[in-house]
Amino acid sequence: MDRRNALKSLLTFLPLGTAFAGLTAMGIRFITPVKREFERKIFTVGLDELPINASRRFKDLRGKDLMVVRTGEREVKALSTVCTHLGCTVFWQEDKKEFYCPCHHGRFDKDGKVVAGPPPKPLDSYKVEIEGDNVYVYFKDIKEV
Ligand code: FES
Repeated sequence: MDRRNALKSLLTFLPLGTAFAGLTAMGIRFITPVKREFERKIFTVGLDELPINASRRFKDLRGKDLMVVRTGEREVKALSTVCTHLGCTVFWQEDKKEFYCPCHHGRFDKDGKVVAGPPPKPLDSYKVEIEGDNVYVYFKDIKEV
């Protein structure tokens, strides 16, 4: 093959190769869509419905249980109720102002830090924002793009 034919072949097959690569990439993206995680700010409760030291249970956007606890005049915590030891459900104890896991007597402070028992790490927490008298919690969600 001389130089002229080689150039001709290259100019013929280059666009075909590029088109094939593009279609392949689109096919892969169609089969395995890209998922992005983002946060949603969602109203949970009004301060007037949640006295100091009281708690309310919710589910996040993925179905995980969490508890919103008012720990001060304008301070609210949102923590997972899933114990980090073996996954039992923790409860807010108003009198002791801490979370308690009845399975193996794990205890967590109002910020979810371990204060006693076998749990190896703190409770998962959610970002909370108070606007006026409304308590918003930021939940993680997934969107296909
Ligand atoms: S499961 Fe909570 S302390 Fe063991």
